[in-house]
Amino acid sequence: MEHLMAVILAAGEGKRMKSAKSKVVHEICGKALIEWVARSVLKAGIEDRVFVVGHKAEQVKECLGENIQYALQEVQLGTGHAVMQAERFLRGKEGQVVILCGDMPLIRPETIMKAVRLHRQSGNSATVITADLDNPAGYGRIVRDERGNVLKIVEHKDTNEEERNIREVNSGIYCFNIMDLLHSLKELGNSNSQGEYYLTDIMEIFVKKGLKVDAFKVEDSSEILGINDRVQLAEAAQVLRKRILEEHMRSGVTLVDPGSTYIDGDVEIGMDTVIYPGTILEGKTKIGENCILGPNSRLVDCVIGNDTEVANSVVIQSSVGSGTHIGPFAYIRPESSIGNKVKIGDFVEIKKSRIGDKTKISHLTYVGDAEVGKNVNLGCGVVVVNYDGRNKYKTVVEDNAFVGCNVNLISPVTVRSNAYIAAGSTIVGEVPENSLAIARSKQEIKEGWVIKKGLRRKE
Ligand code: UD1
Ligand code: CA
Repeated sequence: MEHLMAVILAAGEGKRMKSAKSKVVHEICGKALIEWVARSVLKAGIEDRVFVVGHKAEQVKECLGENIQYALQEVQLGTGHAVMQAERFLRGKEGQVVILCGDMPLIRPETIMKAVRLHRQSGNSATVITADLDNPAGYGRIVRDERGNVLKIVEHKDTNEEERNIREVNSGIYCFNIMDLLHSLKELGNSNSQGEYYLTDIMEIFVKKGLKVDAFKVEDSSEILGINDRVQLAEAAQVLRKRILEEHMRSGVTLVDPGSTYIDGDVEIGMDTVIYPGTILEGKTKIGENCILGPNSRLVDCVIGNDTEVANSVVIQSSVGSGTHIGPFAYIRPESSIGNKVKIGDFVEIKKSRIGDKTKISHLTYVGDAEVGKNVNLGCGVVVVNYDGRNKYKTVVEDNAFVGCNVNLISPVTVRSNAYIAAGSTIVGEVPENSLAIARSKQEIKEGWVIKKGLRRKE
């Protein structure tokens, strides 16, 4: 079996983005552009991948991680020059290399695989992926002879009038025979309008040498959208978002309004879950079956069980069990773990806390740095006072405890199982098992006080 590898070009500056960040680390649907390309290449079955980095290389490396093959292009002298920097990874290998630009996140793995198959079956030396565009401006044009054979690629800036009218464009993805490419790379020149070493010139060099060159045209031209500015970034995000949403709908998720639903690429959702408008699912979120999410909920890196409802709420980096009800208007902050059949109601904020099964926290409550057991009731307006201005402390409320309305639990403090706390209490010490704690001043009545003071109000 011949070797198959990929070189992904990500060293360019991306001037048109007008950004302090490298172009390829800009994100759509929860992933950097370069990550989308990297993922498609991997899904196409190509494991030997080399990334050419240069401009803001640190940002790109941080995004892709350490266990990756990098080639450094210190000065960005063009796409051909970028490939030259990866030569040491190509040398000595027999087979094909797929070269891709790091700014085209919409390419499908199947398309890469089909192009490689065509390349191998036809015995090509180079195969370029192309598409017909209504507006080809900015892309390199595919120039063919009268019989339809590919002759060369001409960059937009170097086209003559006739070439500018060609609608078939270079995607920026090619499959090359490694040996042929290595032989011809050094022949690239830079006498063009941008003074760059264009990889695209390899085509003409091959043709002149009599090597077989062909194009693989894709049906869906959105796949080859290259991102050069923020308008194209938004355009690509829209295409990708639609693809992701359709995939979920096809696997049994109801999206009441796909137009106002945003789901990142790595999110998993179980069957029969219904998602209402204005819902945003981000990061590595995993949703069970038969849940109801939204309207207007945002979940980031969350794991949610089955039959759980999250209405008008925000849940960040937390887990929620099954049969639980959250919202409307709740805020679950990172590192929280909410059990099964729990009720978290309106205007409740939970931070870095564990909430046991069947516990109810129904209204206007703050719980921070706490461990709350099973079947506990926290009444309306309970506040866990976890911060003294300097440090944070832990609160424990054990199983079956009943904490009345408007209670302050001054941390660190423990409420033992089955204990009751009277409404309005400020609790500073342990409440023992099965006991009642009342920590508020007794009600006093001063008879006739209003009249004595002359304060009676006239109608
Ligand atoms: C390139 C192609 C063009 C094609 C288009 C598709 C060339 C000369 N032109 O043009 O035919 O239609 O892509 O989107 O190849 N890069 C480097 N080092 C460099 C220059 C670029 O690594 O010195 C990388 C960039 O990071 C980017 C990719 O190569 O990911 C493409 O560069 P870009 O400047 O966007 O090329 P285009 O002008 O779009
Ligand atoms: Ca580009």
